[in-house]
Amino acid sequence: DNSTKANIGVVGMAVMGSNLARNLAHHGYRVAVFNRTYAKTQTLIAEHGDEGEFIASEHIEDFVASIAEPRAIICMVKAGGPTDATIEELLPLLSPGDVIMDGGNAFFRDTIRREKYVSGKGFHFVGAGISGGEVGALTGPSIMPGGTPESYRILGPMLETISAHYEGEPCCAWMGPDGAGHFVKMIHNGIEYSDMQVIGEAYELLKAVGLSNQECAQTFASWNEGELSSYLVEIAAEVLRQKDPRTGKDFIDIVADRAQMKGTGTWTVQTALELGVATTGIGEAVFARAESSLDELRAAGRTALKGPDRTVSVNDRDAFIENIRKALWCSKVVSYSQGFDEIRAGGAEFGWDIDVAEAAKIWRAGCIIRAELLEQIRQEYSTDPKLVSFMAAPSIAPKMAEYQDAWRSVVAAAVTAGVPAPVFSATLAYYDAARAPRVNAALTQGLRDLFGSHTYERIDDHGHFHLEWSGDR
Ligand code: ATR
Repeated sequence: DNSTKANIGVVGMAVMGSNLARNLAHHGYRVAVFNRTYAKTQTLIAEHGDEGEFIASEHIEDFVASIAEPRAIICMVKAGGPTDATIEELLPLLSPGDVIMDGGNAFFRDTIRREKYVSGKGFHFVGAGISGGEVGALTGPSIMPGGTPESYRILGPMLETISAHYEGEPCCAWMGPDGAGHFVKMIHNGIEYSDMQVIGEAYELLKAVGLSNQECAQTFASWNEGELSSYLVEIAAEVLRQKDPRTGKDFIDIVADRAQMKGTGTWTVQTALELGVATTGIGEAVFARAESSLDELRAAGRTALKGPDRTVSVNDRDAFIENIRKALWCSKVVSYSQGFDEIRAGGAEFGWDIDVAEAAKIWRAGCIIRAELLEQIRQEYSTDPKLVSFMAAPSIAPKMAEYQDAWRSVVAAAVTAGVPAPVFSATLAYYDAARAPRVNAALTQGLRDLFGSHTYERIDDHGHFHLEWSGDR
């Protein structure tokens, strides 16, 4: 009797799983909940059982039996082995047509493998990226599901209901078959890396020109009112304003300057290399985190490597701050542009045909990289789905042209003062390479043909040529 059964089940009652279960319950769904260790399920019911209708089970058999068919089961256990183990436990209990959704940060190739495996047994497998952190899971995340269209018919309406909304539109949409959802989530996280890194570079430059942490916080807060409006700029102001409760000092000054990573940024760059897409903004961000953690290098470098003292002297400080704001906007445009190029390249390579405008659409709210810019990206890609590059879009390129002098002056000031600004400068180099009539790859072709007979192509003919290099070598 389906009328007393749950609409959906959630396995894994750590923070993300229990917050998603509560979010579902808040929206009127009857939610079956299960966790390997029953105590966590009991805690959820004790603390939040009155927020909606939950069916708690101690045993996985009872959990599966408590869900109406076709079943929708969201798996929110630890990524990797635990996800595979949970799938194995669920499989013998399912009925044909049931859906298992993995809402963790799985690598898209694992999702492709799991989808093949689970669909081979007659069930649906959905790999869904979920962004928004713990709070987002509870109040409305951005959700990027991939799988069969049938699975989306079962799961989609519930996911859209609990997702964040941007001007009434859900921040959840079907991204494509098997690994498409986790692929899009991977790129989301990669862009998140470059966003954070370039915000950090802007902060370093604001300090280099003499601003205090509090003034930097105010600067970010004011930037958040304009075209840079975004969650990460907003919370950058919050972090910089924060005091350390233990010492009373500015929090930012007592934090160790070594950034950790969990892997999604690295995957984005590895995949970009495989696809031949130049995601230099994300790449520099991942490498900057890696270098920040090279303690021995940094200890040696502090004494052995000489250079300027990281102060920027300018006549008009406010004008320079405005230049940093413009540089931040330009670098952000290039990083997003590169990320969307990777989505398109991945879609083509893996046969997903991802609608890039849809990806931009569901990132407008709920997720960590939510930003004003995403609505512009959505507009440009929906107007022209074949848009070659977002940075060259009709509404963007003229503004890049207007801002580029500011961007260059910021990169030049950083280089002169010895302030590392890898994302600012790498994205500018990418922009300049894209607009150059000719790039130095011509010389590379010549070198390769000379030393290895790798052949070269010509501007005035088709085909591959080899020159009989002579001369004194
Ligand atoms: P936390 O987020 O609390 O640190 P975690 O170790 O990351 O926990 O695990 C997150 C979720 O995955 C938990 O629901 C956990 O179940 P337990 O509460 O029983 O630890 C679940 N999980 C971890 N390993 C698992 C496994 N091998 N099989 C099934 N569930 C597992």
